Amino acid sequence: MKNEQNEEKEEDIHLEKIADNTVNHKYMFRICLIGNSCVGKTSLLARYADNSFKESYANTIGVDFRVVTLKYKDIIANVHIWDTAGNERFKSITINYYRSSHGFLYVYDIASKESLNNLDMWIHLTNENCGTNAINFLVGNKSDLEKEREVTKEEGEEFAKKYDLIFIETSAKNNDNVDKLFEYFTYKLIQYYQKNKDKYIVNSPENLDSFSQFANLEIDNKKSGCQC
Ligand code: GTP
Ligand code: MG
Repeated sequence: MKNEQNEEKEEDIHLEKIADNTVNHKYMFRICLIGNSCVGKTSLLARYADNSFKESYANTIGVDFRVVTLKYKDIIANVHIWDTAGNERFKSITINYYRSSHGFLYVYDIASKESLNNLDMWIHLTNENCGTNAINFLVGNKSDLEKEREVTKEEGEEFAKKYDLIFIETSAKNNDNVDKLFEYFTYKLIQYYQKNKDKYIVNSPENLDSFSQFANLEIDNKKSGCQC
């Protein structure tokens, strides 16, 4: 991951997780996990939010979400992490959640070249349906599967460069780089919106609209069996 000038060194950046999500926050960010089914989006979120991991797999149906509160110096940010289904049949639902997202985590599986290739389509889809994304990451998940690796780090870096994404490899299974991913993402968002204050309007009608959709997430948490 690269740093811009005037930013702290990546290794010096640490954000503290705060258990109380109702604490007064300066920023409220919405970020979205995107990518093929089975790449590990739900696992990354479960690892980060609950420090848990399951070997068994259940497709996400539609959209799920979690809220985490992070503190950087004296700045508190509420981060809503939307976990979208990779299964194509949910596209018409998941597309609604792109609109007011502040950033995307495009996830692929390092043991599946196809999952990286398909990110061209996911990036196109999100770009067409979102104008608010400021910071975006490319996440090569399952870095523990070194023997089955189909995508080299260099290929990941090249892909990230093509779309101006910040690149990181993670393992939800081994808990490698997962905290770093969400902390660094939040740090980059804070940096961006501090520099571009005029672009951050919490109560825009568009944002309120997306909140009312939050309230109606009846399909959340309903899971179906493994299809990968
Ligand atoms: P959809 O909800 O269908 O879009 O899939 P998803 O991207 O949310 O995938 P999910 O997190 O459900 O994980 C799919 C499978 O990959 C599960 O069996 C996980 O145990 C496994 N998995 C997830 N992350 C890792 C990882 O870092 N390493 C390994 N080896 N397996 C992982
Ligand atoms: Mg999932």
